[in-house]
Amino acid sequence: MRIIIAKDYEDMSQKAANIFNREITKKPNIVLGLATGGTPERFYELLVQAYKNRLTDWSKVTTFNLDEYIGITKTHKLSYHTYMKEKLFSKINIAKENINLPNAQGDITKNGQTYDQLIAKKGGIDIQLLGIGENAHIAFNEPGSEQDAPTREVTLTKSTIEANSRYFDSIKDVPKTAITMGIGSILKAKKIILIAEGIKKAEAIKNTISGPISEKIPSSFLRTHKDVTLIIDEKAASLIEK
Ligand code: GLP
Repeated sequence: MRIIIAKDYEDMSQKAANIFNREITKKPNIVLGLATGGTPERFYELLVQAYKNRLTDWSKVTTFNLDEYIGITKTHKLSYHTYMKEKLFSKINIAKENINLPNAQGDITKNGQTYDQLIAKKGGIDIQLLGIGENAHIAFNEPGSEQDAPTREVTLTKSTIEANSRYFDSIKDVPKTAITMGIGSILKAKKIILIAEGIKKAEAIKNTISGPISEKIPSSFLRTHKDVTLIIDEKAASLIEK
């Protein structure tokens, strides 16, 4: 596991965006794994900026997002479909048919299997972006998720619901379940970049890097992967044992 400590949020975002922009240039038909949340917002602005400056071409790029809420529609203003459309897809030349997000409507078990099969059919994810939850969840793999878990339905923990309630009018409106790529699906990516900023993530980052590899700390399973880079700001890095 490589750890890059960035000065601040801007520096973290630039370092991560530079890697993605470089990889897109190197491999025009790259398969990207993408994340949502507050942390990657500036990262997406920087990807859009590079596209507008003609440094990248997304016409052959394929994307797979990590997760989506169950119980709200795709077009809901706080769905991850809407997030991705607003922050990235509507601003670049990606082909609609190359955009993939987990389908949170209908038979979720079947949708999960179809999603994992589609990722495999496209040759697997070349580079996966991850954020991290305060309880060390990755995507929506909450503590207790198994290392080989596939894309499936999950129940969100109280702490995740509370953290995500900042976007909703009331905590009652936050979905309680989601469809998420599993840890097993994520670990199949060839390269993984995890970004984190702020003191709220410091404990999760410390536990990602040291201590037991365990279902209690979903992100600790990243230590079993051969190409993971954490790009974190100084605050998120502040509890790492020297
Ligand atoms: C949600 C998402 C995760 C994300 C996490 C942290 O739970 N499903 O993919 O990493 O939030 O979000 P933020 O970056 O807003 O702290």
